[in-house]
Amino acid sequence: MTSTHDRLGRAPAGTELDSAEHLSPDELAALQLERLQWTLRYAYDNVPLYKKKFDEIGVRPEDCRSLQDLAKFPTTTKDDLRETYPFGMFAVPSEKVRRIHASSGTTGKPTVVGYTERDLEVWSDVVARSIRAAGGRPGHKVHVSYGYGLFTGGLGAHYGAERLGCTVIPASGGMTSRQVQIIQDFQPEIIMVTPTYMLTLIDEFRRQGIDPRSTSLKVGIFGAEPWTEQMRREIEDTLDMHAVDIYGLSEVMGPGIANECVETKDGLHIWEDHFYPEVIDPIEGTALEDGEVGELAFTSLTKEALPIIRYRTRDLTRLRPGTARPAFRRMERVTGRSDDMIILRGVNVFPSQIEEIVLRAEGLSPHFQLDLSRVDRMDHMSVRVEARDETTVDQRAGAPALLVQAIKEAVGVTAEVSIVDPGTLERSVGKLRRVRDHRATES
Ligand code: DLL
Repeated sequence: MTSTHDRLGRAPAGTELDSAEHLSPDELAALQLERLQWTLRYAYDNVPLYKKKFDEIGVRPEDCRSLQDLAKFPTTTKDDLRETYPFGMFAVPSEKVRRIHASSGTTGKPTVVGYTERDLEVWSDVVARSIRAAGGRPGHKVHVSYGYGLFTGGLGAHYGAERLGCTVIPASGGMTSRQVQIIQDFQPEIIMVTPTYMLTLIDEFRRQGIDPRSTSLKVGIFGAEPWTEQMRREIEDTLDMHAVDIYGLSEVMGPGIANECVETKDGLHIWEDHFYPEVIDPIEGTALEDGEVGELAFTSLTKEALPIIRYRTRDLTRLRPGTARPAFRRMERVTGRSDDMIILRGVNVFPSQIEEIVLRAEGLSPHFQLDLSRVDRMDHMSVRVEARDETTVDQRAGAPALLVQAIKEAVGVTAEVSIVDPGTLERSVGKLRRVRDHRATES
């Protein structure tokens, strides 16, 4: 660490990297082990659920003598957080908690997470690092369209952008026509938004007669939902900007656990000095080697309010060595979570596979919706894709057969495909629900 870095290892406001981004592999491993040992002890001593889980399988914090030893410790799931709702997994008294966020959760109770003052500092730092990796610099204007509120997207992005020395435009989600007006008037260089809400904004630019390529935007930092390389190309071409991936989840921190570097766009560097990643076999729960696809799990290394051990994200990916930030491993973009997987007549299908196919098809828009139903006791998937204004009659007529064939080849199931008029499918204002499964309500 140079003398200009402060006590948390942060570079002074500017374009310089944090000291952790310069660590050698050995230095990083030593830092991780020290922080991991602290976390295991701290969680055991302060969170009754961890004490119980450790005791049940007979492991003690001091059994962790190497990073590999982490595999001996129990994993944590969303159910653990639900069962201890709202604050049962907090490791600090309530007066030390400065902020609470919660995930909406489609069913049952939300999961509640908390942050101490220092946790908020670390979170701001990793989001600042993420924005800088994406190409953001002090003085840039950052338009934040992630929702503000209990969702971690808006406020997480906000404080990170401020930490980097940017000017934040806290637009939040919704009021799309006003967002476009603000982008036109305030001229931000950077936008932080879900990829599907970016598509909604693109529609609105066009509706207002604005060429999306003419805006001030240079970089989009997209995350909170799966998106594909095809979607990156679509957004970059349409807006003449860089589209970079940001990943995170509230149980571990929020946005800014990993981010792509704009110069390589080859997967997301995980900020491993604060979040230790593992990929585990989703069925067996055993740790897999780097390079193997499985479920991503994270252990926090510095969190105080809610230390989290081997949290099973349900996100599927693999770990790769670092490139633009050699100190840190990369995760491949998450194109599916085990929860999103559709099982259609016994075949596993991810919505992202359909997204790739739709975006490759000539003349069609990136807007599509999947409906699952049961017809004559058989699973049935219908794919509705919007045409573009400029889609020709021939393209529109030929598209269903082409898509049916491409889906059959890529995924192995026969779907029904229909092309609908531009502007008729529901638009996203945040995380989009692509799949509607009506099978549970049918026989
Ligand atoms: O979505 C945090 C976030 C906000 C990340 C803004 C990025 C930008 P949760 O609501 O807890 O937190 O949802 C977390 O969203 O487990 C993934 O399934 C999914 N997800 C988040 N980022 C990505 C991404 C926020 N870049 C869940 N690619 C995670 C694919 C993502 N999926």
